Amino acid sequence: MNKAPETDLHALLDQPMPDRDGHFGPYGGQAVPPQLKAIMDSIAEAYLAIRETQAYQDELAELYTHYVGRPSPIYLARRLSEHCGGHAEIYLKREDLNHTGAHKINHALGEALLAKHMGKTKVIAETGAGQHGVAMATACALVGLPCEIHMGEIDIAKEHPNVVKMKILGATLISVDRGTRTLKDAVDSAFEEYMKDPDNFFYAIGSVVGPHPFPMMVRDFQSVVGREAREQFLAMKGELPDYVVACVGGGSNAMGLFTAFLHDLDVKMVGVEPSGRGLGLGEHAATLTYGKPGTMHGFHSYMLQDDEGQPQPVYSIASGLDYPSVGPQHSYLKDIGRAEYHAMDDEACLKAFMDLSRFEGIIPALESSHALAWAMQAAREAEPGTRILVNLSGRGDKDADFVADKLAL
Ligand SMILES: Cc1ncc(COP(=O)(O)O)c(C=O)c1O
Repeated sequence: MNKAPETDLHALLDQPMPDRDGHFGPYGGQAVPPQLKAIMDSIAEAYLAIRETQAYQDELAELYTHYVGRPSPIYLARRLSEHCGGHAEIYLKREDLNHTGAHKINHALGEALLAKHMGKTKVIAETGAGQHGVAMATACALVGLPCEIHMGEIDIAKEHPNVVKMKILGATLISVDRGTRTLKDAVDSAFEEYMKDPDNFFYAIGSVVGPHPFPMMVRDFQSVVGREAREQFLAMKGELPDYVVACVGGGSNAMGLFTAFLHDLDVKMVGVEPSGRGLGLGEHAATLTYGKPGTMHGFHSYMLQDDEGQPQPVYSIASGLDYPSVGPQHSYLKDIGRAEYHAMDDEACLKAFMDLSRFEGIIPALESSHALAWAMQAAREAEPGTRILVNLSGRGDKDADFVADKLAL
C-alpha cells in the first residue's frame, strides 16, 4: 500500500479498526481452521458483550487503580535530556511502576476476567521476557484460575527472576526446548496445549498478535496507557508531545500508547524494533523494518520469512522483542503512513539502559531501552523545545544480572 495523503488519512483513521472480521486493511483476520474460528468468534462475542457491561468496566477500573497502581505517572527525565544536548525534553510514561513491573498487567487482568466470565478451566500463555508470564500468573492467582506458562529454555536461563516469580504465584512452567528455544517456539508450544481442549482452555495471548479478536482485545486493554498519557501531558504542558515512542515486539505497549493519539496528526508516532547484532538471518527481529507481509500464528502481518514463507529465526538482546511477526494494526499504520518504525541495535539498547540508570536512577527493561535509545538519538538531533514521550514499558530488575554479566560490572 502507498502512504496516504493527510486528507485520506483522516478518512482511513475514521474507519472501524479492525473491521467486523478483524482486519486492519489487508492485515489481521483469522487464518485458523474452522473449529478454532468458531472458538475465536465465541471469545470475540463474549468480549464485545462483557466490555459493554458496567460491572466489568467497574471491576477492571477498580483493579487498575487499587491493584496495579494506575494512573502511572509521566516523568520529565531532566538529566537524561541534558545529557542528550538539552534542547529536547524526554518524558517517560512510567509503566515500569505498575504492579509486576510492566504494561503486561493491563491486558493480563482483562484476559483473566474474561476467561473467568467464560467459565474456562485453565489459562495458557506464552512468554518471552517473562513479563507477560508473571502478569498472567498474577492475574490468574487473583481470579482463582489455574495457569500454565510456556517459555523457551534460553529465555528461562536469561530471565531467572521472572521464572521464580511465576512459580511462587502458582503457575505451571513449561520449558520449551525446540527450535530457537525462544518466544516463537513458546507460542507454538502453548498453542499445541491449547488445541487439546480449546472449549475449556483460554489462550491468553501476550501481545496485539494472533487471530482476531486478540489484536483488538489486547489493544483495548492497553489503551489505558495512551488515554492517561494524553490527558496527563495536556494537563502538564497544555499541549501534546511532538513524538510518542514505544518499543515493538508484538506491539502491545506501542498500540496502547498510540491509540489515544491516532487522530492527532501533529503527534508523530514511532515504534522501535530491535536490529540486534546485525542484519543477517537470525541476527535481529526488526519485522516492520525488514520483513514483508506473510501469515503465521493465525494472522496476516509483516513477517520475517524465508522464500517459502516460513518464519525466519530472530534474535534480540531483549527476550520480549524477538518475534518474527508483529501486530497487524502496526503493519497497517506503517503502510498508510500514520506511524513510522525504526530499529535500534543491542549496543544502543545497552547504552540507553545504563544512561537511564545512571542519569535518572531508573533501571529500564531491555525492551523499553530500545525506545529510549531512539528517543535519545532523536533528542540529539531535534529542534529546540521538542518534546518526546517514551513509553517506559517495564522495569529492568529482570535484566539486571544479565546486563551486569554482559558489561562485567
Ligand atoms: C517490558 C516489556 N516491554 C515490551 C515488551 C514487548 O511486548 P509488546 O511489543 O507487546 O509491548 C515486553 C515483552 O515481554 C516487555 O516485557
